[in-house]
Amino acid sequence: MTATIIQTKQLTKSFGKNQVLRNIDLTVTQGEFTAIMGPSGSGKSTLMNVLSTIDRFSGGDILLEEKSLLDLNKRALRQFRQDRMGFIFQDYNLLDMLTVKENILLPLSLRKMKSEEMESRLKKLGQALGIEDILDKYPNEISGGQKQRAASARALITNPAIVFADEPTGALDSRSATQLLEQLVHLNKSLHTTILMVTHDAYAASYCRRVIFLRDGSIVNEVYAGEQSQKDFYERILDTQSLMGGKGR
Ligand SMILES: Nc1ncnc2c1ncn2[C@@H]1O[C@H](COP(=O)(O)OP(=O)(O)OP(=O)(O)O)[C@@H](O)[C@H]1O
Ligand SMILES: [Mg+2]
Repeated sequence: MTATIIQTKQLTKSFGKNQVLRNIDLTVTQGEFTAIMGPSGSGKSTLMNVLSTIDRFSGGDILLEEKSLLDLNKRALRQFRQDRMGFIFQDYNLLDMLTVKENILLPLSLRKMKSEEMESRLKKLGQALGIEDILDKYPNEISGGQKQRAASARALITNPAIVFADEPTGALDSRSATQLLEQLVHLNKSLHTTILMVTHDAYAASYCRRVIFLRDGSIVNEVYAGEQSQKDFYERILDTQSLMGGKGR
């Protein structure tokens, strides 16, 4: 039996009178690599924020590793976030006073990890994401795409059990985007990392094994890669998008 990592039950989220998530029932099992797609404003980021405990939800329930968030206090949530989750969000949140390397290693410096292990992880991720050359620079000396990759390395260096990525390839050129997506696939395959990734891009989504489509705060469709090739899955995603009307934006 594969463990359930995330389960929502009739999950709702409202901002004032605006109901943004409507009765979402979603189950994610360990090791799944899932994309979330849908038009702008459909609730993708909101869903990521409540699942990752960054934002509160309004109704229903979320279970993380089979524990209801309603039963966890703030401290337990913070611990869970630190130990189990990695975040790749669009505001990079790199600290200006630290070099890229120091930023990436920051989550490990908080734990008692041997420096050889830290260096070895840094080397692997730096190579995989093509940022070895900028490790000694400061955030204000590098481009937006480089910041995005540095922030991704920081999110992945702890080998988190669950990675939440909100448009991680949005600011990247196609080569860097492919590097990041391949790194996510690698993590997913080698460490069984569970990944949830919001994207507007059918090509990026085709790296995932499952794509969920949101519209007006509801899950309206879902496709699985199954045995088909990445190219066929890509076509399938495009077809599903056009069936839903529009290209997602
Ligand atoms: N903090 C907030 N306060 C009030 N309303 C919000 C807040 N965050 C999001 N919303 C509203 O919730 C709805 C969904 O927003 P959300 O950011 O989840 O969409 P999205 O699918 O991520 O869109 P995009 O593709 O543009 O990033 C929108 O109508 C938005 O205006
Ligand atoms: Mg968004």
